[in-house]
Amino acid sequence: MSKFTHHLFVCGKCKPSKRYGKGKTHDSGKLRAALKKEIKRLGLKAQVRANDSGCLDQCDDGQVVVIYPQAIWYGGVGVEDAERIIHETILAGNILEDLRIPDERLRCGKAKKAGSAAAESKQEN
Ligand code: FES
Repeated sequence: MSKFTHHLFVCGKCKPSKRYGKGKTHDSGKLRAALKKEIKRLGLKAQVRANDSGCLDQCDDGQVVVIYPQAIWYGGVGVEDAERIIHETILAGNILEDLRIPDERLRCGKAKKAGSAAAESKQEN
């Protein structure tokens, strides 16, 4: 069995953020279904998977989708963006700049470090 080339995680708990575009449809279930539908339609099921996830700790950028192993973070994603993500990012390898969460805003590791520091501080006291 081969590995997935792309694994998309769709946060199921996001609320739309202020960067969320007008006219977009916010619905994580429909978004994931639209991603899966396009993956299936293009015969990519063996290589690409879209799953629900819990909070990805990037809530200010909701609706969030992260793609691994490329670690591409998208925010403000609407149902309308699903086909674009599959065609432009998955197939063509292009980053959608209007959706990309800039690296400097990513919280990856920061919360953990803060939590670890708090835990260490607690142990010292
Ligand atoms: S609720 Fe979606 S990233 Fe936190």
